[in-house]
Amino acid sequence: MQNILVTGGCGFIGTNFIRYVLAETDFDGRLVNVDKLTYAGNPENLADIVQTYYPQRYAFIQADICDRQAMAGIFANFEIDTVCHFAAESHVDRSIVAPDAFIKTNIEGTFNLLQIARQHLDRLVLFHHISTDEVYGSLGADGYFTETTPYRPNSPYSASKAASDHLVRAYSRTYGLPVTISNCSNNYGPYQFPEKLIPLIILNALEGQSLPVYGQGLNIRDWLYVRDHCRAVWAIMQKGTRGETYNVGGRCEMANLETVRLICDMLDEMVPGSHPGPRRDLITFVKDRPGHDLRYAIDFSKLQKELNWCPAESFETGIQKTIQWYIANREWVDRVRSGEYMSWVEQQYGNG
Ligand code: NAD
Ligand code: TYD
Repeated sequence: MQNILVTGGCGFIGTNFIRYVLAETDFDGRLVNVDKLTYAGNPENLADIVQTYYPQRYAFIQADICDRQAMAGIFANFEIDTVCHFAAESHVDRSIVAPDAFIKTNIEGTFNLLQIARQHLDRLVLFHHISTDEVYGSLGADGYFTETTPYRPNSPYSASKAASDHLVRAYSRTYGLPVTISNCSNNYGPYQFPEKLIPLIILNALEGQSLPVYGQGLNIRDWLYVRDHCRAVWAIMQKGTRGETYNVGGRCEMANLETVRLICDMLDEMVPGSHPGPRRDLITFVKDRPGHDLRYAIDFSKLQKELNWCPAESFETGIQKTIQWYIANREWVDRVRSGEYMSWVEQQYGNG
């Protein structure tokens, strides 16, 4: 692997992945980050990476993965030999309200990349596809998702990710593309857009705003600190068996209400005095999400056995780091929320 195309590198996990690979691994090639810069993509996340690594080790191109010509040009010009595909529309609630972009980016965009990768089979080392445990649907009180659990997606988001997983698998079987797929549970950590549960709750709790909990807060998610996900993806890219899927999880199941209460209690301890009374008082039960999956839980024994991967962070340590990051980066939060960073983008990169 010398020239890795990272799609969606200005989003939450992509940003963390780029930072991890360049700063913490022995990779000595170049990462080419292609991102459309939707509301969720922020190149400011990587401003210091540009300073340190551009142009030998890092390049950024603003482009849409659905744009065949642009993608073909990038593959050719940068002699791409590896793809790590993060780019997606990623928020379930948005997919319920406006599914079109999910079908376009997640399905057509992945198809487009696969078609171009196919034309470069001679030098393609790997196409790694990042996916979610949500493709498996919802669990009852018991059991875990394994790599052989049947797909039963319940939201437009998870259905679009399931479709993209199937395309990647099909291109491996039909055209011999060297692929790996990872299906990961819910991530949290620095740079997550504050529409997802954990950053939303941290920021609202800091600001004394109400903390919306869907339904009764009994839905369970399996939380993984984002750097651990990045470690897993990198391990799979290095040593994973081509054609295989790997589940990635945190062994950290919590009901949403428990998660929200824990964040409230930690903030009461870490930032005392900024709010009158316990922050738990801010919890507000709101209308449930339609088709809300009850429980996700991952069996990651395949990844553990084959690649010796295990989460390094517990929820207590990971959430503490996350809270500290959001407290220390209020300017980032303000800019991301206001959309102001688009003017920063225009300043840095022009209008396209
Ligand atoms: P994100 O929404 O924070 O970032 C997505 C990035 O993709 C953004 O930078 C956006 O600008 C870019 N993008 C969107 N459409 C594009 C297009 N058409 N062309 C080019 N770039 C485009 O998402 P995330 O949370 O970082 O998730 C990254 C990947 O990981 C996704 O594939 C998601 O399905 C998967 N995943 C996420 C989680 C999670 O908890 N966040 C868990 C498991 C899997
Ligand atoms: P989210 O972060 O949107 O991730 P996903 O839907 O992909 O699991 O939501 C995590 C859980 O938190 C999910 O069960 C929905 C719930 N939730 C709330 O209760 N309130 C909120 O404001 C949000 C955004 C999510």
